[in-house]
Amino acid sequence: LAYPDYLRLLPKTELHCHFVSTLSAARLISLADRYGVELPTTDPDELFDYSDLADFLVAFRAATDVLRSPDDLATTAYDGVRAAVIAGNLRYREYGVNPQYFATRGIGYTELLDPVIDGLRAAERDLGVGFRIVVAINRRESARSAVELVEQMVRHPYAEVVALGQDDLTPENTEDPGRFAEAYALAKRHGFKTTAHAGETATASAEDVRIAVDVLGVDRIDHGYRVLDDAELTARLRDRHLPFATTPLSTRVLSKWELDADHRIAHMIRAGLNVSVSTDDGVFFRTDIGREYSEGLLDFGIDAAGAQAIALAGIDGAFCDDDEKARLR
Ligand code: ADE
Ligand code: ZN
Repeated sequence: LAYPDYLRLLPKTELHCHFVSTLSAARLISLADRYGVELPTTDPDELFDYSDLADFLVAFRAATDVLRSPDDLATTAYDGVRAAVIAGNLRYREYGVNPQYFATRGIGYTELLDPVIDGLRAAERDLGVGFRIVVAINRRESARSAVELVEQMVRHPYAEVVALGQDDLTPENTEDPGRFAEAYALAKRHGFKTTAHAGETATASAEDVRIAVDVLGVDRIDHGYRVLDDAELTARLRDRHLPFATTPLSTRVLSKWELDADHRIAHMIRAGLNVSVSTDDGVFFRTDIGREYSEGLLDFGIDAAGAQAIALAGIDGAFCDDDEKARLR
């Protein structure tokens, strides 16, 4: 077995996967056509080319707008799991779902989550791929609306909705990254785990990672690449074994970073941080969970033992119960 094939076939989990981005490109374009949703471009080559995170998020927001009917949501859920099993032997996945995108179009919290969970449960039955859901605060929205989102999580409990996260980007990226502290505290009081996108691109900093950990009190970090700019924080989070859900191939698009041994994720791994890898947004970054290993880890120069350790970190950092973790190991 050639090494890239070994990496592709290794059983995997992924902890950082935005639900909308499990759409296939063909379905994204055909649903946009059906509903008359204007994509930034209909040329598939350009549709998946972005100058930066803000530019990518325009395309991402358009994609949330093509998922309208319960069947759109359930079919996307089911087909996305099947594709990931074929592409990279996926065994378990945690999905970021951002209800505030859908609420602006009149799709309520349970209207969104019911079909998504139906589709994912059917895929679990047929394909044995477990899942949990991380409800994400949209950072464009107010701190007050984030608290209301957590109140909805509490009012409508689902066994699979286990955590609160935050994604998207404040328009100028200047607001206080700790402003959602009340929403996070409320989620924790109700037993939810927590994570946050932090320290992703050049507009972010190690301080954003520190605030996510010390002010929001997160159990995990999404991205977190800027942590390396603060040696003391890096050592502290290494000692705490705090999980970082990184997404190698997305950084090639959003930060123009080469995938080589000098990549920030490669440095994070060598620094002893608890790093797992995920796709983030498969359709938009032309990636899948197989390629994050067979191209990402391969090009970082990670050996077989290292790749296995990263796959195990993806179980260790998961927000599921210990029975599910035992099944995955
Ligand atoms: N939403 C989807 N992908 C994202 C990312 N990489 N960063 C911030 N928000 C996102
Ligand atoms: Zn993300």
